[in-house]
Amino acid sequence: MDLNGKHIVLGLTGGIACYKAAELCRALVKQGATVQVVMTEAAAQFITPVTMQALSNRPVYDSQWDAREHNNMAHINLSREADAILIAPCSADFMAKLMHGRADDLLSLMCLARPLERVPLLLAPAMNREMWAHPATQRNLAQLRADGCTVFDVGSGAQACGETGDGRMLEPDQLLQDLVAFFQPKHLAGQRVLVTAGPTFEAIDPVRGITNLSSGKMGFAIARAAQEAGAEVTLVAGPVALPTPRGVARVDVVSARDMLQVCERLAPQSDIFVATAAVADWRPDQAATQKIKKEADGLPPSLSFVENTDILATLAQSPRGRSGALYCVGFAAESHDLLAHASAKRVRKQVPLLVGNIGPATFGQDDNALLLVDAHGSQEIPRNSKLALARMLVAEIAARRKVPA
Ligand code: CTP
Repeated sequence: MDLNGKHIVLGLTGGIACYKAAELCRALVKQGATVQVVMTEAAAQFITPVTMQALSNRPVYDSQWDAREHNNMAHINLSREADAILIAPCSADFMAKLMHGRADDLLSLMCLARPLERVPLLLAPAMNREMWAHPATQRNLAQLRADGCTVFDVGSGAQACGETGDGRMLEPDQLLQDLVAFFQPKHLAGQRVLVTAGPTFEAIDPVRGITNLSSGKMGFAIARAAQEAGAEVTLVAGPVALPTPRGVARVDVVSARDMLQVCERLAPQSDIFVATAAVADWRPDQAATQKIKKEADGLPPSLSFVENTDILATLAQSPRGRSGALYCVGFAAESHDLLAHASAKRVRKQVPLLVGNIGPATFGQDDNALLLVDAHGSQEIPRNSKLALARMLVAEIAARRKVPA
């Protein structure tokens, strides 16, 4: 549960996107957060406090004159408890109000009264595309950012008003991911990270090929964790059907040769390379241009293979890899003698850090256990979800980059 122990004040302002706030509230609670809903009068035109109370399991606050508070200072009490105030949806009008520091209802009063250094204010704007594009809104947005607010992206597409464009509130699952990312430590701020993930597919003919059972989950988790840690991440993915983590640039490839080409192109603009892909070791020497048909004599076709270039070793042994400007991390999927094989692989591929795991125990699973091997020795990271492991690995990479191994 990514928000365990977090207390979120969820503010709703007037907009049709209030219907998404119900699901967002539920998602926050599911991730372990306690949620205190505060609504403006306009928000209550779109969704009832009853719905939000039922979903958050707490009475909703909507007035600064709420006599339930012993000191009658809901704006002080509510803002002091919060780990963050998230306004979703945040209307154009509410942004304008915040920008001016106005405080004529409970929610704006609470935002103004919050301890600036301790309680972050996060905004999820939602409005019509013309309102969003208006210079006044963009001016307010810039000022709110300068004042220290975090403003989440808006979505693009069909709007409730019938128009199409930018300004929709992000979907609840997207906002949840952004909020979870917000709370992660920024170990890799400003770093550019290149990650390979998934299997590769090596064509035999136009309809057949060889591949492997890698699900890509560990690589996608590492891309997400690096993005959460503040890095600019590019994920080079073999054929998998996983959704792209938010904020991550993705390049889809099919074969090992495609993957090598993309990685060689992107490596000069990267600071860290994490090779999690299960790259096919061999490819058919010559892929047939037409489908291979069965022969009348019943004999199978004879295939010959050539070895694929080792992407990790190529980048690790490039001048930037050797100098440490590109910090290379390899993976090893083994079936036995993990430490011995992983240590040998680290030396052979000349990478500062190699992450070993037991292949059959991880392929397709949602959890895994890792063994980190570097020049100083080894360290076990016990079984956990792939995302939790990815976050720990990102912290380990960041620590090692500061003090080169
Ligand atoms: N790798 C790569 N390009 C390849 C093969 C492997 O970048 N052509 C990377 C993988 O992404 C992984 C690491 O190298 O990070 C280890 O790959 P693995 O296949 O386990 O190692 P091999 O060197 O092929 O050794 P073996 O198959 O004998 O275990």
